[in-house]
Amino acid sequence: MRTVAVYPGSFDPPTYGHLDIIERSSRVFSRVIVAVALNIRKNVCFTPRERESMLRKLTRPWGNVEVTSFSGLLVEFARKKDAHVLVRGLRAISDFEYEYQMAHMNTKLAPEIDTVIMMTGERYSAISSNIVKEIAMFGGKIDDLVPPLVRDLVFIKLKGAKRK
Ligand code: PNS
Repeated sequence: MRTVAVYPGSFDPPTYGHLDIIERSSRVFSRVIVAVALNIRKNVCFTPRERESMLRKLTRPWGNVEVTSFSGLLVEFARKKDAHVLVRGLRAISDFEYEYQMAHMNTKLAPEIDTVIMMTGERYSAISSNIVKEIAMFGGKIDDLVPPLVRDLVFIKLKGAKRK
């Protein structure tokens, strides 16, 4: 059976935690669509094009992974892509409430689509995109949190922001 999964998120920026989930999903599902959310209520640092471009480069090693963006309801996007699974990573118990609510709401909206929660690998469980940006803002090292490509872009962005 071919199972198509969507892995949605803000990816602002992508971290080693995200890549861990993508790699493991690529082993479980026939096709994984990494979906960059466009209409999110958060303040984002990177443009959708930048987030997509980073993810495209980072997911090159996996032949069954593709990257795209979406706006509107996630389940409508998944339906259009013929995907029956939504993948989300769970780092710690603090993520649980949000993921629980989202999974239930998505099931209400689209009962034919299942949410599969993957535990983020232990070594990545404390990484978040927000923490990465905060550490970088104060000049800290983020090499263990994001790939070099992302690290360089984070510092370029922050330099640009400081000049403004
Ligand atoms: O990485 P994030 O910010 O935790 O991802 C959240 C995201 C983008 C997956 C979620 O906000 C989402 O699905 N947004 C699309 C709008 C939608 O479908 N909302 C209903 C979900 S209950």
